[in-house]
Amino acid sequence: MMIYTLLKILLGFLLVFIGLHTLIRIVRHFYKFPIPSAFVSLIDNPFRRRIQPPDETAASHGIQPGMKVLEVGPGNGTYSLAAARRIGPEGKLVTIDIEPSVIERVQGVFKNAGMHTIEVRTADVFALPFEASTFDLVTMIAVIGEIPTPERALAEFHRVLKPDGLLAFSELLLDPDYPLSRSLTNLVESAGFRLKRKAGNFFCYTLVFDKDNPITSEG
Ligand SMILES: C[S@@+](CC[C@H](N)C(=O)[O-])C[C@H]1O[C@@H](n2cnc3c(N)ncnc32)[C@H](O)[C@@H]1O
Repeated sequence: MMIYTLLKILLGFLLVFIGLHTLIRIVRHFYKFPIPSAFVSLIDNPFRRRIQPPDETAASHGIQPGMKVLEVGPGNGTYSLAAARRIGPEGKLVTIDIEPSVIERVQGVFKNAGMHTIEVRTADVFALPFEASTFDLVTMIAVIGEIPTPERALAEFHRVLKPDGLLAFSELLLDPDYPLSRSLTNLVESAGFRLKRKAGNFFCYTLVFDKDNPITSEG
């Protein structure tokens, strides 16, 4: 009897979650905006870190010691810290977010961790304040789905990446802005990138791209 009651409660929670998730997905399909910074903490929890571990995610994105890496949309900074530790003192992590409050929080995270050389700044993906061919890698987790015109952002990522640079995404089905890996691949490939590596499953995946046209000739 007790088991049935528990099962009913669990089923109730699951249905409420699926209903809410679907509703938010429908709304966000038509109206995209950056997640309010208060909600950013909600998606950074032990359950999420278990299925999308920060260190493993940084490794799967191809982050290597000594790289110059741009991270977009750090949220709570959990994945930023893992990336910065992997890059080490010979490289550099630059992390940007459109929300000044998110940037303030991430500055605090790095300060508490004793990392003072990370560049953290407010910026919009549509106008990245960096010169062309600056970065070895552009990385983001659960961000691309909340950008209203991702094609414009992808053009900026292409511009700031070095000719042999990499572009990496991780996505999680629990995120209401989760894109299907096939849709994301098509979108990114149509912006001048080529899929290099794919890992994970339907629920949680990582895609790494390189530039489709790495050799640029001028004049
Ligand atoms: C869902 S959160 C993901 C946070 C973190 N990467 C994680 O996985 O926990 C998306 C982040 O992207 C940022 N963002 C959304 N639109 C942006 C834009 N146009 N330019 C820069 N950052 C943006 C949001 O402010 C937010 O911090």
